[in-house]
Amino acid sequence: MNISRRKFIGTAWILAGAVIAGEMIAGTIAYLWPRTRKRKEKLFIAGKVEDFKVGAIVSFRKEKLYINRLDEGFLAMSSVCTHLRCIAPWVQKNDRFECPCHAGIFNRVGEVVSGPPPRPLDLHPVKIVGDKVVVDTSTATRREKFASSQVVTV
Ligand code: FES
Repeated sequence: MNISRRKFIGTAWILAGAVIAGEMIAGTIAYLWPRTRKRKEKLFIAGKVEDFKVGAIVSFRKEKLYINRLDEGFLAMSSVCTHLRCIAPWVQKNDRFECPCHAGIFNRVGEVVSGPPPRPLDLHPVKIVGDKVVVDTSTATRREKFASSQVVTV
């Protein structure tokens, strides 16, 4: 087979252009295609309902989680500060969460009392399954303030 140099280079340019156009089209389709991947729950059994005394705030360090046992039920709060994501420890003697990084202070339901945090501590979904307190630690929702509707009743 005899092919001229001019024809060979022309064909190579056409093939290169087709590859580039194909990559661009495939990339655009992949970008625009809706994501259907479902979030996978990460359930954590915090304990039995009766293990939590009313008024107590229990820390779960590894899960970065606080369980606040209120009269009406439970709040599962993230221990991650909403400012720059430091861990905000519960300080029992001061009855509040105190973030050591920039002195952010949160009250016992996670509302900002002072400092730079822009919003309350985030909430994890919590449910009572049988006699167990079960928290989904795979997600946390933002909130503007505390509301009694956030408390999961027993
Ligand atoms: S990270 Fe908590 S106050 Fe800045």
